[in-house]
Amino acid sequence: MLSAEQNELISRVGPGTPMGETLRRYWLPIAMRDELPEPDGAPVRVRLLGEKLVAFRDTSGRVGLVDEYCPHRGASLWLARNEGCGLRCIYHGWKYDADGNCVEQMNEPESFAEKIRLTAYPTCEAGDVVWAYLGPKEATPPPPHFEWTRAAATRRHVSKVWQECNWVQALEGGIDTSHAPILHRALAANGAGISPDSPFVRGKAPTLDVDATDYGFRYAGIRELDGDQTYVRGYHYVMPFHQLRPQQVPNRGLDGGPRHPMIAGHMWVPMDDDNTMVWNWLLTAGDEPLTEAERLERGTGNGPDFVDAANAYRSRHGRWNDWGIDRARQRSVNFSGIDGINQQDRAVQESMGAIVDRSREHLGPADRAIITMRQLLLQAVRTVREGGDPPGTGDSYYALRAWEAILPRGTAWREALLPEMDPDAAHREPAIAG
Ligand code: FES
Ligand SMILES: [Fe+2]
Repeated sequence: MLSAEQNELISRVGPGTPMGETLRRYWLPIAMRDELPEPDGAPVRVRLLGEKLVAFRDTSGRVGLVDEYCPHRGASLWLARNEGCGLRCIYHGWKYDADGNCVEQMNEPESFAEKIRLTAYPTCEAGDVVWAYLGPKEATPPPPHFEWTRAAATRRHVSKVWQECNWVQALEGGIDTSHAPILHRALAANGAGISPDSPFVRGKAPTLDVDATDYGFRYAGIRELDGDQTYVRGYHYVMPFHQLRPQQVPNRGLDGGPRHPMIAGHMWVPMDDDNTMVWNWLLTAGDEPLTEAERLERGTGNGPDFVDAANAYRSRHGRWNDWGIDRARQRSVNFSGIDGINQQDRAVQESMGAIVDRSREHLGPADRAIITMRQLLLQAVRTVREGGDPPGTGDSYYALRAWEAILPRGTAWREALLPEMDPDAAHREPAIAG
């Protein structure tokens, strides 16, 4: 449970809010490289931390991210001409480069361009994704660098979807291992969702271990299986909104077919207080390329059947059509009656309202990862207020992987999984006590 004040503190992300200022200390994904495929191509609208921005790839190939509204009289620069290393407003022809300098004023006989500045943020590209940094220059973190951003593109798939609720409840759903084999359960072995034959569903309700670290925390969902075995799923939460999730144990049956062992995850990036861009990534755990079927993300509910990229990556289902719930399918096909794993997540998270009231909730031990995440966010806000660097702004998360295994009962999971999950585990300082 959080007080109403704490709930406001972690949820609100606009300029000048404590959480907004904290989030501005990290690199944030803003667009897929495919949205800005070529120099002088069409600009792209970006809504991020309550700001309305425009991204464009200039003539030299560099990506600029600038305020959407022209400093002259406020026309949208999304309409602008992208030409000659800058965006030219179509109203009076004022032109801005990727650093926000005004370089031309077509309607003024005596230029005063040197006095005009457009807000502009630095960008970088990694893992088929364009990232931006909105914080103070002197605190710029090292570039975003995960196994999935460094790997060969053939092993990686990235997608995104606009979710209509606050970022914290979306993130909480992502790091909540206990809901997954319930909400996402298939009722028949060939039904859509996590198969009833899988260890995820066969396992008993999980116990959670959460180890705070210098980048956030690692956590494990530990489920007893029949026959003296234990199913352990080891995850990472990298502050402020990144999750790494294991997908190595076969026969979880999302699509019914065979699938590569993978590492997957999400980033829940606040667009504003009431909207979140959820980024999804998949990576084969070995050198093999992903298949075309895996890239379609049918089972996860994030592919083109579910998400309309031409409509700003909005989901095809939402509050307005009850997320496509089908009561007949709810009785016999899958637990939720909703198709697509992450569409099920969007349904329950959006159903709470734009910002859930955390002063009314009843948390239990199964919510331990969520409780720790909130403590870390509140602490990060305090750290930034006091002039420090929040966790996850260094490079200590670079080598992390998520991993899972079925182990003989009584095996110490950290000994079994940490060599794969975190080669630097022995040297870490906890981010917070307890
Ligand atoms: S409003 Fe952009 S140039 Fe006038
Ligand atoms: Fe989920």
